[in-house]
Amino acid sequence: MARINDNFLKLKAGYLFPEIARRVNAYTEANAEAAGRLIRCGIGDVTEALPQAVQKAMHDAVDELGERGTFRGYGPEQGYDFLREAIAENQFASVGISADEVFISDGSKCDTGNILDIFGPGNKIAITDPVYPVYVDTNVMAGNTGEADANGAYGGLVYLPCTSENDFVPAIPEEKVDLIYLCYPNNPTGATATRAQLEAWVDYAKENDAIILYDAAYEAFVQESDVPKSIFEIDGAKSCAIEFRSFSKNGGFTGVRCAYTVIPKDLMGKAEDGSEVSLHQLWSRRHSTKFNGASYPVQRGAAAVFSPEGKAEVAALVEHYMGNAKLLREACEKIGLTVFGGVNAPYVWVGCPEGVDSWGMFDRMLEQAQVVITPGAGFGAAGEGYFRISAFNSRENVEEVCRRIAENLG
Ligand code: MLT
Repeated sequence: MARINDNFLKLKAGYLFPEIARRVNAYTEANAEAAGRLIRCGIGDVTEALPQAVQKAMHDAVDELGERGTFRGYGPEQGYDFLREAIAENQFASVGISADEVFISDGSKCDTGNILDIFGPGNKIAITDPVYPVYVDTNVMAGNTGEADANGAYGGLVYLPCTSENDFVPAIPEEKVDLIYLCYPNNPTGATATRAQLEAWVDYAKENDAIILYDAAYEAFVQESDVPKSIFEIDGAKSCAIEFRSFSKNGGFTGVRCAYTVIPKDLMGKAEDGSEVSLHQLWSRRHSTKFNGASYPVQRGAAAVFSPEGKAEVAALVEHYMGNAKLLREACEKIGLTVFGGVNAPYVWVGCPEGVDSWGMFDRMLEQAQVVITPGAGFGAAGEGYFRISAFNSRENVEEVCRRIAENLG
């Protein structure tokens, strides 16, 4: 019989969002009437239509593929130049990232997991708590952790607590670590990191030869001009950081699938014999072997996000979702709950009412209000006592959620 990867057996329960879906399905099957009232503010999945500019670019690309003369087969594994160049020019011109440092993919979830392919065993890995569960689970699968304890914390990982006391930005660790996952604007807390905080992380990474894996999937939602959108805005980050970005939340690509990872050519890792190796080259090699590129129509659609029409439409989508976030924040504040996030991120992070834990809150919102939220504990032990409301929804649904919050929790 074939041996399995035993590391999978260390994983706790199901992945968070399918687990939530399972509980919601069980509830709606048992409560057919309530099912019709259900509003989903759990997973951060976009709801509004793709920008017209994106639709047009994708239609045109399909038409091209429909003619022999303009048909294209396999594309470059690292992405088409037209998209890599548009990203470098529109997103990173001021920080000097070049087009060939941008690798196109089909999603940041995949990229943040797959990146472990180019890192060897024995790295000390730091993750924030609460955290996007993908960072933890992929390290478990890769064998980079021990078993989980009763709180779900895995042996071998360095957990960096993010609490209201530290504004959900972790303190620099006292010990030496090799890989650090940071995500700002943060999923799930909606917090942002200041320039000074990111500078401290970059200094730490350089002093300790560590690499920061910076997830900036929500950068488009930053509203305040002093909040950094990229780790590469920090001097020295090109020699110690990888950045992940996505079209999912800004361009509405959660179903279309397109993202990118920036690996500067200056970034080095160490081989077993102590020699320095370019991580850019390793990732390029990995992409060439395991990936055949995102599809041509999808990459054309992604490039259209940077057209003048696309930019205006994305700005309107961001404004819509951030308007939702404001309403959700206000509804929770009005009934006396403690609220974080929702200002530069589409997630509102709310303290549970006295005496209710985060899964208790999930049940209460589902059963009393027919609103799906995400329990904070699903993101890690430090998420206990909180719940997350996603602002990705129609205005009508969000207004209804606000009414139900007032009726059921007020
Ligand atoms: C979330 O709800 O945390 C996100 O939608 C998950 C994701 O982007 O994969």
